[in-house]
Amino acid sequence: MKHDLPVFDITNIETDKALQSDIIAAEEEYGAYLFTGYDPKIEACLKKTQEVARNFFERPLDEKMTYDYVNYDHDGGYFPKGGEKSAHGMQADTLEYFMIGPKEATSEALKEAWCPRPEVDTTFDATLSDMYEAFQALDYRLSVPLSLYIFGDETTIKENSIHGNHKLRVTFGAQKGNSIAPHRDRSRQTILFPRQPGLTIESRKGEVLEVQAEEGMGLKNNGYQLGWLTNDAVLPCNHWAEAKTDGRMSIVFFSHMNGDFVLKPQDKFVDRIPVEGYPDTPMTVTEYAIYRKTFNDPNSTRTEEYKSSKDAA
Ligand SMILES: [Fe+2]
Repeated sequence: MKHDLPVFDITNIETDKALQSDIIAAEEEYGAYLFTGYDPKIEACLKKTQEVARNFFERPLDEKMTYDYVNYDHDGGYFPKGGEKSAHGMQADTLEYFMIGPKEATSEALKEAWCPRPEVDTTFDATLSDMYEAFQALDYRLSVPLSLYIFGDETTIKENSIHGNHKLRVTFGAQKGNSIAPHRDRSRQTILFPRQPGLTIESRKGEVLEVQAEEGMGLKNNGYQLGWLTNDAVLPCNHWAEAKTDGRMSIVFFSHMNGDFVLKPQDKFVDRIPVEGYPDTPMTVTEYAIYRKTFNDPNSTRTEEYKSSKDAA
């Protein structure tokens, strides 16, 4: 398969300086890249997660509603079909999802801001736990070049992320044509394995790239937290998606800095011109999570333009 985005073999990501430098160039230009060379256990976890997720989503609604997201401050648990509008705004979305949050909350503030982890107590739960662990290990490895670049050492991102305010979301059932409008994730970075067509990203120069990854290949894209830490030296990736088929499933891991980590441009990047879309004052990740509930991404104001270009197509 031909890829417009750079593809890196991350086998030696912790030690290969030339690879780290190529990765940082991609972080700056695309805010995303494709990667191979990860632990094969992840492919097995993905297949198992897909299988048990299908079984879970086929359960009766009242059983699934036992894990209703409203019990988890709307940030975890089960989210039924029809709860969200698609980018076209006309029809309730046809997707449903299940999300698990931190396995451990280390402070009361974290427990308040990040969902407690729903205990489903089934194969589904155990499989998601395995997937969560695998994603977390991969997230740390993918963060080594960024940690060196932003903080001058390879451990700062890991040490400020270990409390696990990360989320694993399994989404199922989007109907063909349903779409997610252009946006940037509020996370530090996001990891997924887009095996079906429909995901599009925009480079810093404004190039529009279709992204798909075959078996053995994953995608990471940057969220707002990396953009804010670097005054956009590292690009937060603007992206959007459309389901090309019914029954689309996506398994996505969102990682964040710890809840008490203060988000602000780091010293190395303070001279860059401030960019649109970040709060004026530093705030903790917990405060930022609350702020984002009422925040409009400047990129999403382009939804109208996106809709009309699609309607014309
Ligand atoms: Fe996203």
